[in-house]
Amino acid sequence: MAFFKCAAALVLSVLCFSPATNAAPGAGKADPCAKFAGQQFVVPADALACLKSFPFNETLRQNVLTNIARVFDFFTFEEFYLNSPPPFQESTTNIRADIARINRTKFATDYNFNRAVYDFTTQLNDGHTRWFPDCYTSFQNLLPAPIVTLEENGVQGVFVAPDSVEFISLVGADYLAHFEQIGFNWQRLAGAKVLEIEGQDPFAYADHIASTESGNYLDHGVRVNSVFSSYRISGSDFSQRFGDIAGPAFPDRNTLTLKLLPVNSTTAETVKVPYLANYIGAPFTNQASFWAVNCAANDETNGVDLRPPRSAARVKTPKRARAVIIDKTPANGVGLPDPFIPRVPPVNGSTGVIKSFILPDNQTGVMFVGSFEGDFNQFQTDTLAAVQQFQASGVTRLLIDLTNNGGGFVCLGQFLHQFLVGSQIGYPGFVSTSRANPLAQRIVKADIAQGNNDFITFYSPDNWAFLNDTEMPLTFDYNDPSLPFKINGVNDPTSQRFHDVCTPFAVPIPETPPFDLKNVAIVNNGNCASTCSMFSTLMFERHQTKIAVFGGNPGEQIEYKGMAGNQVLEWSDLDTEIKTAGVKDDPLAPPDLLVSGNMRHNWRTAWSFLDENVPIAYKSELPQFRFAYTKDTYNDPQNLWEFAASKLF
Ligand SMILES: *[C@@H]1O[C@H](CO)[C@@H](O)[C@H](O)[C@H]1NC(C)=O
Ligand SMILES: *[C@@H]1O[C@H](CO)[C@@H](O)[C@H](O)[C@H]1NC(C)=O
Ligand SMILES: *[C@@H]1O[C@H](CO)[C@@H](O)[C@H](O)[C@H]1NC(C)=O
Ligand SMILES: *[C@@H]1O[C@H](CO)[C@@H](O)[C@H](O)[C@H]1NC(C)=O
Ligand SMILES: *[C@@H]1O[C@H](CO)[C@@H](O)[C@H](O)[C@H]1NC(C)=O
Ligand SMILES: *[C@@H]1O[C@H](CO)[C@@H](O)[C@H](O)[C@H]1NC(C)=O
Repeated sequence: MAFFKCAAALVLSVLCFSPATNAAPGAGKADPCAKFAGQQFVVPADALACLKSFPFNETLRQNVLTNIARVFDFFTFEEFYLNSPPPFQESTTNIRADIARINRTKFATDYNFNRAVYDFTTQLNDGHTRWFPDCYTSFQNLLPAPIVTLEENGVQGVFVAPDSVEFISLVGADYLAHFEQIGFNWQRLAGAKVLEIEGQDPFAYADHIASTESGNYLDHGVRVNSVFSSYRISGSDFSQRFGDIAGPAFPDRNTLTLKLLPVNSTTAETVKVPYLANYIGAPFTNQASFWAVNCAANDETNGVDLRPPRSAARVKTPKRARAVIIDKTPANGVGLPDPFIPRVPPVNGSTGVIKSFILPDNQTGVMFVGSFEGDFNQFQTDTLAAVQQFQASGVTRLLIDLTNNGGGFVCLGQFLHQFLVGSQIGYPGFVSTSRANPLAQRIVKADIAQGNNDFITFYSPDNWAFLNDTEMPLTFDYNDPSLPFKINGVNDPTSQRFHDVCTPFAVPIPETPPFDLKNVAIVNNGNCASTCSMFSTLMFERHQTKIAVFGGNPGEQIEYKGMAGNQVLEWSDLDTEIKTAGVKDDPLAPPDLLVSGNMRHNWRTAWSFLDENVPIAYKSELPQFRFAYTKDTYNDPQNLWEFAASKLF
């Protein structure tokens, strides 16, 4: 089943499917956006012409760069980038020099400026710390030949996904009609062995995209897996991700040149495969309305002052910390083709982000934890329901699949850890800090002075507990005195160290582990971000849980955790902290954005359980097991789980 944002918007607007009647009167041929208004799919050149039609504007550059420069003051890992420790050297950069470079570069268009900021932040390879200009992230370019890496006869190679016909057919009738119309037979490419991409060895090309476009994960090996197509849970549905080669974020390639051997052929041929861009922005009619709905700042762009009386009406529960990457692709997620959805029936507690099964061996329970997002309490009741059914069915081993888990609520990672190991473990999370920069210190003092609490701010002391797990009183200034910290020769003081406050949980925690921890194992593709990384790192560092990573470049190592920040603040979250503390007049406060965009950042560090001077993000930890995907497992979770159970237990 395909579910596109544009299709979903159908009830709200007819713009998606009736272009003719909605074209703005007078919007002539010269309007590069009006040309495809109302269409879900657009040839990349047309999409790019619209994006590049907005002139460079110095006022907007100064606004965006001043905003992001001041947001970076809060980014916990800024100084690590000056000399990123191995094996993460690829991310090394001087962030302030990058901002200065972009400040003095001449840009032809507003797109080019925003693309430079996007590329610079994406290549920090920290999914929590990126610039998303909504104007220019309004397409996804889609290739009807998703690329995968598979082992065949003991050798790993690159292939067009063998399930391309089933998968691409789900993208939608308008997508298929385009290739029919231009007479391009993409169906015959399914399963072809790829010999070269853009004239390069296919693994070298995968490395290139991993280095320049994928972002999100500090580890290069993990990013290599992002470039390939893979299964996932998107929202609460089984889905297949295109991968960054076949589904890049910008419509800036018209074709991808593949040298390949079609199935059953012995003759190599070179094929230029056309991309077609999927519009995922809001409905518009012409260039002016494209700007209005996608690019101009709106009510959600900047933060709000949540102090009473406003909070009384708006705020009913404490704020919940989140650690999650933004993958724009779930917005237009394509379903996993039916034949590859697990054949064993789901057990109780499988309607949300977790899908649980008992494998045909009747001994192995599987929890596919798609994310730590969704309904906060349901995640917990679903875990309880699945484990109860596993136990009632005599299951003795637990396999947890974290493939493409982008993270979510920090406390749900701690919950799952605690539930699986039992309450006797004590505090189930990491020791944490934020940066104690001068504005952060002023915010905490202002929150304390005004009695702001955890219903309206993340900085107020009652969000955190001392290391003995007593919640901090509302008057405790954990940022003054700060703690000294030095990295790469730079003094970078942090807050005092604290714990998260996640208890009480919504379901009772078993006293002892529901399954012998020796019989618990994790599989993933390394694309395990934020809360997912914290969960897998807790299981690995504290219980030596077996972890197997699939895929990657066979010649390169791969970490089991992708990106392990502790808590992300979206720009609007940080701005809400500043406004609610009443310190927006501070010269260090970032200005409100004039455009619709989000400079998010990693706001807290989680310190390794094994070495409390090293953030888990920078603690290199390789999985104990590494396996190649095969044509039977790359898109078929049940086959992968049965294979993993045979190897790990
Ligand atoms: C640049 O953007 C600002 C802010 O939106 C706007 O007021 C100004 O008119 C723009 N300048 C030009 C030359 O379009
Ligand atoms: C960009 O450079 C100009 C000229 O040197 C300077 O006035 C401005 O403050 C700089 N902007 C940022 C965001 O650094
Ligand atoms: C390839 O050859 C096998 C064996 O002859 C056949 O079953 C299969 O249908 C062929 N596939 C294609 C795509 O031609
Ligand atoms: C698993 O249980 C089912 C239902 O009780 C039974 O039909 C099947 O034979 C069992 N499989 C194994 C491998 O024991
Ligand atoms: C599954 O859930 C149903 C409905 O809540 C419950 O009646 C049943 O006992 C549960 N099954 C198991 C095996 O836990
Ligand atoms: C926990 O630690 C804090 C700070 O050191 C201290 O003030 C508090 O009394 C301690 N609470 C308990 C119950 O030990």
